Amino acid sequence: MNILVTGGAGYIGSHTIVELLGAGYDIVVMDNYSNSAPSVIDRIRRIMEEEKQTAGAGNQGRIIDVVEGDVCDKAALRRVFENNSISAVIHFAGYKAVGESVEKPLMYYRNNLESTMNVAECMKEFGTEYIIFSSSATVYGMNNRVPFVETMPVSCTNPYGWTKLMSEQILRDMAAGAPDKERPDYRFRPVLLRYFNPVGAHRSGMIGENPKGIPNNLMPYIQQVAAGIREKLTVFGDDYDTPDGTGVRDYIHVTDLAKGHVKALTWALSADDSQWEAACEAASSSGGAAVFNLGTGRGTSVLELVTAFADVNSVPVPYVIGPRRAGDIATCYADASRAKEILGWEAELGIEDMCRDSWRWQRLDF
Ligand code: NAD
Ligand code: UFG
Repeated sequence: MNILVTGGAGYIGSHTIVELLGAGYDIVVMDNYSNSAPSVIDRIRRIMEEEKQTAGAGNQGRIIDVVEGDVCDKAALRRVFENNSISAVIHFAGYKAVGESVEKPLMYYRNNLESTMNVAECMKEFGTEYIIFSSSATVYGMNNRVPFVETMPVSCTNPYGWTKLMSEQILRDMAAGAPDKERPDYRFRPVLLRYFNPVGAHRSGMIGENPKGIPNNLMPYIQQVAAGIREKLTVFGDDYDTPDGTGVRDYIHVTDLAKGHVKALTWALSADDSQWEAACEAASSSGGAAVFNLGTGRGTSVLELVTAFADVNSVPVPYVIGPRRAGDIATCYADASRAKEILGWEAELGIEDMCRDSWRWQRLDF
């Protein structure tokens, strides 16, 4: 079964490919390397080679095609569908920086929406039914009731978030649309995965997140402070209504997140009509899409993460308390029970694993 992974050389995509290959799926990658590099694919191959040596080839899938190309280039995307029989798409390709999206909204709307529409159009044209879409907990907006449940009202506070919400809506509307008269059996089945805060790296230290410039996110910033690249972390506010006054988030190990994609794909491919409809109904606003939070269900504060990182890795992480960052909420964590009930998935790795693996990735110099 060939799975097209758009944005497969990126942070979450690369870890997901490792898990998909391990589960026996064959992979086609399309990435324009705007925020990654072709060397990531070589490293995935090395990880799989090493896993073969230790665990045996087993049921390992293959990377059957790697295409350097822009998903917004419809003709190039069509060629990928033409050259490979695609059973499902996991659509990661997109821009993801909240601050940059405020400065360059059109760039975000163009890339994130056009890529989603092109993927959906090609799927329809070539009869591909299943798409797993990278959404985000950002769609819960400034909601201040935790945990966040899939049935909660959604809204956004920045262009990046709107591209996620609009993409969700596009895919929902496609699923709810009239059946194709020429292919009455064709069903468009989107699975919308709302990620909480992905951190960590593959346990081999060979792939991880590689932010360009000054990191916006907490964990990459902590890593760079620990490595001496930055002098100190600024904690954005210690006067929130949280146990220690600093912001609370649901950090999830990227390997757990990657496994969530494999579970979602395997479930979607095997769900019969009634299982599919029951999953869609369970999230009242979801229309014809199945929606799942991917988080641990546990909140960790900024200071707890800093302390855990310093303790686990025996490395100092100097910090100062600064003002709040505009647009931040106090607390955000998932109700992760739907993914457990329906997909049979739950996060297994804890904060210590996330800190250890982030540091291993930061220190390994290729
Ligand atoms: P990433 O930037 O590491 O990966 C995205 C990949 O897509 C990169 O390899 C980039 O080169 C590629 N890409 C971007 N636009 C493209 C295009 N038009 N055509 C082809 N390739 C293109 O980001 P990530 O952290 O792996 O995130 C993957 C997806 O998950 C994104 O859609 C992101 O919005 C979403 N997401 C990420 C987070 C997070 O905190 N990392 C949280 C929620 C949702
Ligand atoms: N923080 C600091 N100092 C820093 C960076 C972050 O104190 O230098 C704090 C933030 O104030 C927040 C916490 O660390 O309390 C986490 O911040 P991140 O920037 O790592 O993550 P966010 O929760 O703000 O945002 C992330 C993704 C977004 C996504 C959002 C929704 O970056 O793309 O989760 O869940 F939209």
